[in-house]
Amino acid sequence: MAEMQTATTIEQLRTLVSCAKKSGSKIGFVPTMGALHEGHISLVHEAKKHCDFVVFSIFVNPMQFGPNEDFHRYPRPLQDDLKLCTDAGVNLVFIPSVEEMYPTGFSTVVEVNGLTNNLCGKSRPGHFKGVTTVVMKLFGQVQPDAAYLGQKDAQQALVIKRMARDLDLPIEVVICPTLREADGLAMSSRNRYLSNEQRSVAPLIYKGLCLLKEDVALRKHESSAQYRLDLLKRLEAIPNGVVDYVEIVNADSLEVLEKMNGIVLIAVALKLGNTRLIDNIIINTSA
Ligand code: PAJ
Repeated sequence: MAEMQTATTIEQLRTLVSCAKKSGSKIGFVPTMGALHEGHISLVHEAKKHCDFVVFSIFVNPMQFGPNEDFHRYPRPLQDDLKLCTDAGVNLVFIPSVEEMYPTGFSTVVEVNGLTNNLCGKSRPGHFKGVTTVVMKLFGQVQPDAAYLGQKDAQQALVIKRMARDLDLPIEVVICPTLREADGLAMSSRNRYLSNEQRSVAPLIYKGLCLLKEDVALRKHESSAQYRLDLLKRLEAIPNGVVDYVEIVNADSLEVLEKMNGIVLIAVALKLGNTRLIDNIIINTSA
């Protein structure tokens, strides 16, 4: 197997990717901010199933963090990350600096309207503008055939899919399932911020989502609002948890639903201390 390559400049990246393209490789791309876990690696596995050459980016994107968020303390265990990438069979890791991505005078943004109005878009103003701008840049730099994103960030995945469609990008955006710890907690780079106590109660988030799914199967309530209230109460009972939002929305449009009809996304965000955790499930009510 060829050794994993790394690039820190756009020029190096372009040279290596065009070399792979010339040999006829289909290019898969997995964008990340590093601090990798099995969830990230599952995207590589999916990419490798369908592509010949997998590009993986690690870039903690300042533009998508709010002024009081964790940009500066976001974990950056680069050597561990590179080892995980090598073991997973990544072909090329792109690790640009902030200056490489945002040189002096940088002044363009990419913004998806509508889909970004609620859920995380509401509680993190400007966040998705930062995400779509950096992902658009990465797409332009890598020029992949397909990009692999996690369902864990459901709204982000939909927003990027919409951006690719609206801007006619010849890139297939593939959304992959959420990987979880054995106790159900969705894997996240931010889980490493949790104290032992916080970590022990964090699985209650997914537990609450699963109980809601069971109640829907039993047709416990008439309206979504009632299911939402049940889940809100369960999440509010998590010791030291502060609920940011609980929403029951259409899984494609993210519009709030009055009834549990069609493909339904239940999305939650909750703070445990300073750590903001998100999770979601999808329920196909016609299945
Ligand atoms: P990051 O949080 O590092 O996540 C990178 C990718 O991994 C995203 O597509 C995310 O949805 C996916 N992912 C995270 N946890 C997962 C899990 N438990 N199971 C499956 N996939 C998971 O999301 C970002 O970075 C950034 O916003 C980025 C898109 C890179 C733009 O900066």
